[in-house]
Amino acid sequence: MTATAIIGAQWGDEGKGKIADFLAGRAKAVARFNGGANSGHTVVTGKKTFKLHLIPSGLLRKNINLILGNGMVLDPEVLAQEIKLVQKINPSAGIFISDRAHVVMPYHKVFDGGLETKREGKKIGTTSRGIGPTYADKMHRSEAIRVFDLINRSFKDKLAWILLQKKDELKKFGLQPNGDYFGQLSRTYSYWTKILKPYVCDTTIIANELLDKGKSVILEGAQGTLLDIDHGTFPYVSSSNGTAGGACTGLGISPTKIGKVIGVAKAYTTRVGEGPFPTELFDKTAERVRDVGGEYGTTTGRPRRCGWLDLPMLAYAHRINNFTELAITKLDVLNGIPKIKICVGYKNEKDNALFSPEIGIMQKLRSVYKEFPGWEDFSTSQIKSKGKRALPKNARRYLEFIEGNLAVPIKIVSYGPDRNQTISG
Ligand code: IMP
Repeated sequence: MTATAIIGAQWGDEGKGKIADFLAGRAKAVARFNGGANSGHTVVTGKKTFKLHLIPSGLLRKNINLILGNGMVLDPEVLAQEIKLVQKINPSAGIFISDRAHVVMPYHKVFDGGLETKREGKKIGTTSRGIGPTYADKMHRSEAIRVFDLINRSFKDKLAWILLQKKDELKKFGLQPNGDYFGQLSRTYSYWTKILKPYVCDTTIIANELLDKGKSVILEGAQGTLLDIDHGTFPYVSSSNGTAGGACTGLGISPTKIGKVIGVAKAYTTRVGEGPFPTELFDKTAERVRDVGGEYGTTTGRPRRCGWLDLPMLAYAHRINNFTELAITKLDVLNGIPKIKICVGYKNEKDNALFSPEIGIMQKLRSVYKEFPGWEDFSTSQIKSKGKRALPKNARRYLEFIEGNLAVPIKIVSYGPDRNQTISG
């Protein structure tokens, strides 16, 4: 069992990319299994910073294999640009794109934005990357385009048929499904396809062969448990399964091949977009956490909503994913805050009903907090030699409380954006 799933335990942006990159040093491949260009991670090489959306993390590791699984939705324009970047900054990396992944078309992005505008008072706050409409077409089946279709000779026939089927919908959102529109789409898409084609394959073979040979493969989830289409705070969720089960369907690997499930959580909580957030803060602490933590969306630049750590939420994420260990990120962001709180329950929620499907109940939850004394800045050099033991006593107590409450060991602690600012073990 050599697959390790890295799963967001909150509402995304937990720092999964950093953990995937950290573990990729000892892995043969990093594979993404859900979502699309709605997610993002930042890669720093020397003085240059790149923001990537589709290529898995760990792309700077020598000889790494980067797999984009069938569960993803791929925007060919974004992907072609990212492939060019990988070719430039790490030519030793292998790229494998699933022929079964679904393709985001320009009209999906228009529908995404248009639907949001119409949802008066009920906006989801999507990233406008066409994610929901592309997954909807996948479920509708006939009107969907897979990577396989893109590289197939009959792509233009299929596209013409789809545009005919969608004629009324396209007009409703201000698009003219005439010959010009068809010509423009087929031209640009054949340009992007030429770049993608050499990397397209049956990725289930690649992933399973590596695992069968005993190689280590990192399964990198996008978004988080609370944004999962089945288990998140529906309808304020994304459209895919970013939970551990999604790693199997989104890559075509058996659950029996997953040895570890690492739940990644920030030392506090953030969320972008609309929806319930029981521990959200609206005071100076929220501003401080946002500023110190750089809590602005990688994809949209939107300020993230910030709040205290929510243990019932993490317990819920553990129930869904059965984490074998936890990685706590951004511990340093809490440095210097005099009193730190952790939500340990909700006043108006019965024990067994935690995380109700009823969004009205979720929106009214009132958190019960346990307060912890804060800690000052800690010395990075001390931590390098001594590990977790060199953390301030109060920071260790904070972590121990989380571990004890969830009964899951914290095996990784991240205290800064750099790969070296990570304690493991
Ligand atoms: P969509 O995935 O663009 O449809 O957006 C649905 C919801 O998920 C919105 O609230 C987004 O802000 C949120 N979301 C999608 N991807 C991410 C992510 O990578 N991090 C955090 N939130 C995300």
